[in-house]
Parts: sequence; C-alpha cells; structure tokens
Amino acid sequence: MKVTVLGAAGGIGQPLSLILKSKLPAGSDLALYDVAKFTPGVAVDLSHIPSDVNVEGFTGDDGLEKAVTGADVVVVPAGMARKPGMDRSDLFKFNADIVKSLAEAIAKYAPKACVAIITNPVNTMVPIVKEVFVKAGCYDANKLFGVTSLDILRSETFWADKTGYSRGSLVVPVIGGHSGTTILPLFSQSIGYSEVSSADIEALTVRVQNAGTEVVEAKAGAGSATLSMAVAGAGFALKIVDGLIGKPGVVACAYVNGNTGYADFFAQPVLLGKNGVEKFMPIGKLSDYEQKNLESMLSTLRADIQQGVDFMK
Ligand code: LMR
Repeated sequence: MKVTVLGAAGGIGQPLSLILKSKLPAGSDLALYDVAKFTPGVAVDLSHIPSDVNVEGFTGDDGLEKAVTGADVVVVPAGMARKPGMDRSDLFKFNADIVKSLAEAIAKYAPKACVAIITNPVNTMVPIVKEVFVKAGCYDANKLFGVTSLDILRSETFWADKTGYSRGSLVVPVIGGHSGTTILPLFSQSIGYSEVSSADIEALTVRVQNAGTEVVEAKAGAGSATLSMAVAGAGFALKIVDGLIGKPGVVACAYVNGNTGYADFFAQPVLLGKNGVEKFMPIGKLSDYEQKNLESMLSTLRADIQQGVDFMK
C-alpha cells in the first residue's frame, strides 16, 4: 500500500503524515511531497519513529512524479489557509491552480489512486479534480472524495458535550458540503436527540457550520484548523486504506459524486471497499429542520460546484 501526501510539509500535512506514519498497516509506503525545500527533512524526522512504514520525502522538479507514482491513495492538504474575515470561497483564486496541477500529476502518475481532497474550498476543488480526471480519461466516481470528516468530529464533540454522552461514543452523520450552510449535521440520527431542545439543536447546527471560522478567528491570522483537520484527514485516509485491503463494513461520510440527486457532489455515507466506494448509502430520514436546511443550501452548493466546472472550461 502506498499513500502519498501532497502538501506534506504544511500545517495540516505534517501532523497528518505523522498519524499516517504511526497508523498505516505494516509494510506500507508513505510518500511526502511539498514545494517546501525541507520536505525530505520531514520524512527523515518521521523515519525515526519505530513503525513499520517506509517514509520518503520529495520536493523540486521531479519530486511530484516520484511521490505520486504508484500511489494507491493520495491525500491533498496543499494550498493556502484562511485568515480572519475570509470565507473558504475566498481561497479559490489561490488554490484552484495548485489543485489543478496536482490533479494533473495524479492523472499522469497514479491514475487508479483513490484521491482525498482537503484543500479549500472543498466544494469547488473536488469538481476541478473531477474535470481534470475526465479530460485525462481516468475519472472514477468511486475514487474521488472531498474530506468532510472534520465536520463529523466537530458535530460528535459538540453533541457529546450537549447530551452528556461520552466523547467518542456517538455518531453524527454530516451531509451536504464543507462550507457554511452547506454543512448539515444530522443530529436527529444521533443518540440523545429527544433530550435536546429545538433551540439547542439549531444553535449546535450553526456552531458546526461556523466551527472552521471559530478556529480561524482564535488563531488570529496564523491560519485555520491544522491539528483537528490532520486527525480528520488521516482518519479518512486510513478508512480508505481499510477498504482497499478488504476490511468489511468500513463506512464514512464524504463529499462524493454519488447518488443523492441533490447536486453533482454531495457529502453522504459511503461503504468503502477494494475499489474505493463499494456502495453509496442513503442519507436516511431527516427532521423537518434538517430537510428545510438541506433544501435551502442547494443553490449555494450547486454554485460552488459550477465554479469548479467553469474554471476548467
Ligand atoms: C475547517 O473546517 O476548519 C477547514 O475547512 C479550514 C477552514 O478554513 O475553515
């Protein structure tokens, strides 16, 4: 199993690579790529951790090709992060070209890889990757994912604190996209739902939708979520790996070109298997409040997706 991290020397990339070095199955290869010249040094640093995962770091002209060639999974946290006052969509002009050129490299050197995009705005970056892969003739809807796991971690943490269930003991699916109102936690599908007032559920929903901004403001100009995003991104990549090696019953929510019919890309639960998505799963029953939010987010989500499609015309 070869897992490649593109943007591996950044604020998300380093802790994400650390988790992968610690948790990938024995015998895996972990390849790190970043434009930062010290990326091979990050790999040397990680190589002193006594796990049975081979790690190599690349930068420079041929670094991308070396890192990506033969990858089974490529995780992409590369790009610029938000500053206070910015929306995720403000990152489009900085990150669209970066993601496009990384996707072109993946299409060339690892056309069969599962690809997990963390770079913001995720709602728009994933459609860009799809268009690159379609042009290259290697697009497979079962292998392209936008990472929305941090919305799930946040929802589960905030819900546990509200309901009194222990953190880590409950599940909150999150559907839609990864930006503002397109993030829709389904608290109605979680344990303890009947014990929480509608006002509290609405407040928690808004908190999850603004949680990225909460971190951006708390970091006061030093970036956005890196450590929690690394846990979320690495956790999702490890689930892809679990599926690829044949573990049964691996389910995760991700932003995919699935079968809900709401938009071309929409975060929904998927069953992961030996070829990426084995089955797109239903989003289940929604409360009236969730249904209303779902309907009102769709125009934003579709516009985000269209922006990516238009960029590639
Ligand atoms: C997050 O959800 O924390 C990330 O998408 C980063 C951001 O800009 O909010």
